[in-house]
Amino acid sequence: MNKKQFFDLPEELREKEWWGFNWLEHLTAVPAPLVLVTGYKANGFANGTMQSWFCFSSEGDFYCIFGSVHKQSHMYEIAAKQKQMVINFPDKACIAKCMDTIANNGYDTDELSASGLHYRDGGKVKAPLVDECFLNLECETVWEKELFEGSNHVALCVRVVNVWMDEAHYADSQCGRYGETGYLYNVHAPLNPETGEESNTGYAVLKKIEM
Ligand SMILES: Cc1cc2nc3c(=O)[nH]c(=O)nc-3n(C[C@H](O)[C@H](O)[C@H](O)COP(=O)(O)O)c2cc1C
Repeated sequence: MNKKQFFDLPEELREKEWWGFNWLEHLTAVPAPLVLVTGYKANGFANGTMQSWFCFSSEGDFYCIFGSVHKQSHMYEIAAKQKQMVINFPDKACIAKCMDTIANNGYDTDELSASGLHYRDGGKVKAPLVDECFLNLECETVWEKELFEGSNHVALCVRVVNVWMDEAHYADSQCGRYGETGYLYNVHAPLNPETGEESNTGYAVLKKIEM
């Protein structure tokens, strides 16, 4: 291997627009699972927020920890006030509709219906569960913490209280969780730090390998 160290933004990339992201995100370009987080806004309209910075933890209960939730987002308001949400996992058949919730982000909009998605209330939480997504995790807020003092983002921990999963996806003999019909990952514009060449943001699926 011929490893190089990177800590300062290379001179030739100083003029580049990073849209609020740190350039190291594009250098590392670690794939992250894509989800649509749903809840009800204070006015009762359904909300949808695309998210891809999170991980899971289980000690006794099963938790999801979002690494970076913007304080100005509807999702943050819902997590802080209603404290109930659903994490919906899309496959490639419904990802375009899930992404449409970003364009349909009005406060007085049912963002899910406006994006052509269907939903029902969760079994244990009052939050919309998206029918088109093959896995839905009903969650309750546990804690939040600013990323750093004065940050615009919080890390948010939620506890999973109920799970809905399509049987064709948990049965490996049917379509299973991975491959073309399974979990989708966000690949965020990978960057070559020496040439400045950046490839497009895209979706990825997982191929399981035998060890
Ligand atoms: C792939 C992808 C990942 C995203 N991840 C995050 C995230 O981790 N944190 C965040 O605050 N916004 C994230 N966003 C942006 C929000 O989805 C977007 O700002 C959304 O409109 C906020 O919706 P809301 O105001 O209804 O919560 C992401 C968007 C995309 C397309």
